[in-house]
Amino acid sequence: MSDFAPVARLSEIPDPGKILAEVDEELVVVIRVGDAVYCIDDVCTHDGGPLSEGELDAARCTIACPRHGAKFDIRDGRALTMPATKATRAHEAKVVDGQVLVRLNES
Ligand code: FES
Repeated sequence: MSDFAPVARLSEIPDPGKILAEVDEELVVVIRVGDAVYCIDDVCTHDGGPLSEGELDAARCTIACPRHGAKFDIRDGRALTMPATKATRAHEAKVVDGQVLVRLNES
């Protein structure tokens, strides 16, 4: 399992908001809602849309793919609406001393 990697200061991410980050040569979306942080692949499982460009609904903890609108749960990557049927990968994310750290889920 890989180690936690620093991706940004918490203060650098809009609240609520998201940034695109690269961890171990993989693109991921790091999402902030208040003091909570989440991380999922920047890949929609329907047809590869860039979730980092999708609309975040912080109240519902969802992000919508910008291509055909499938919604994913930012907490665990679950696909919530068509046309996506498969979860996108979710990764561990945490904040330590104001630094956002991500560890890739390699499964
Ligand atoms: S590529 Fe994301 S909904 Fe189609």
